[in-house]
Amino acid sequence: MSGSRQVAIEAGVEQALAGFQLPEQLGFGVTMIPMMYCVEATDGVWGQGRLMPYGPIELDPSAKVLHYAQEYFEGMKAYKVESPHATLFRPERHAARFATSARRLCMPEVPEEVFMEGVGTLTAWAEPYIPGNTCQSLYLRPFVIGTQPNLGLGVSSTNTFLVVASPSEAYHAGSMRVLVERNDTRAAVGGTGAVKTGGNYAASLLSAANAKTKGYDQSLWLDPMTRTNIEELSGMNFFAMIEGRLCTPKLSGSILPGITRDSLIELARSLGHEVSEETMSIDELLADIGNGRCSEAFASGTAAVVSPISAVGDGDGTEYALPEDPGPVAMSLKDALLGIQEGRQEDPFGWVRPLDRHFYPASAQVA
Ligand code: COI
Repeated sequence: MSGSRQVAIEAGVEQALAGFQLPEQLGFGVTMIPMMYCVEATDGVWGQGRLMPYGPIELDPSAKVLHYAQEYFEGMKAYKVESPHATLFRPERHAARFATSARRLCMPEVPEEVFMEGVGTLTAWAEPYIPGNTCQSLYLRPFVIGTQPNLGLGVSSTNTFLVVASPSEAYHAGSMRVLVERNDTRAAVGGTGAVKTGGNYAASLLSAANAKTKGYDQSLWLDPMTRTNIEELSGMNFFAMIEGRLCTPKLSGSILPGITRDSLIELARSLGHEVSEETMSIDELLADIGNGRCSEAFASGTAAVVSPISAVGDGDGTEYALPEDPGPVAMSLKDALLGIQEGRQEDPFGWVRPLDRHFYPASAQVA
């Protein structure tokens, strides 16, 4: 047992699991594992974690999360493709980003031990239901909400950390068509764009709906100060191959520092690519697609993995088709990353973590 913490397993978990079956079509985030992890904090002190049947949570209608968006979350994955036991991908990095989000929102941090207890216990108990085909995984959604019932604007004195999980496929099948958002911005410098909180995603929905009506899958956001430089997509980072260099917008303070983004940068360098984190002008990118200097573009994210981009549309109705779709660099990076995550290839970076034995149910035999 690590530390002095022990998770309480509530009545009904085993029955809920026994009646659960993976559907034939998984999609993304549709089917939920029928149990969840939950722990409450009062004045920043976390209590005992509980594994309980999945279901609605009781929340006072004046809870701060409902009025002042006191919420932060992570998206991470457990894999069981090449091995009988689940592994997690870079869980310490996710725990660290979770803590950064907590600090920006003035909410209590979840210590790494408690974060690991939540994702580790849920993953270990869900292990028999983690899908085993390539590109499939258990998508884990840890999140914290401010639960104090009080309409005054202030920091919630009570908070709940929950982890729910969904056996899933990649977020977006096939290539994406993206539309440059020239008017709205997603996040301000000095705001919350660099952390993972629901408000950033809420702010992207109107633009996404407009993009859909014009036949596009996603908005491509520009910087909030000048609206001239590329930031990211609503839930993914952006990459383009320009004259043989792999380019991605440098972290500006309003871009989410994606863990897949970071992994792809390291992986690409290790495969011999020149990688540049830089200011990327949207007008230059569109010109470069037009004149052939930009050969391919793709998006990256935990949920998305690597999603090729087939076309970039501009507000004036012009469309720029990428010459290579899907591009060879996107495809080779996706293969290499999935190879490590799914256990087919060596992991020279030390990114893949097995689960500690003590997270498993007593009845499970873990070799
Ligand atoms: C993730 O990739 O984990 C995210 O949180 C993005 C979300 C739009 C699914």
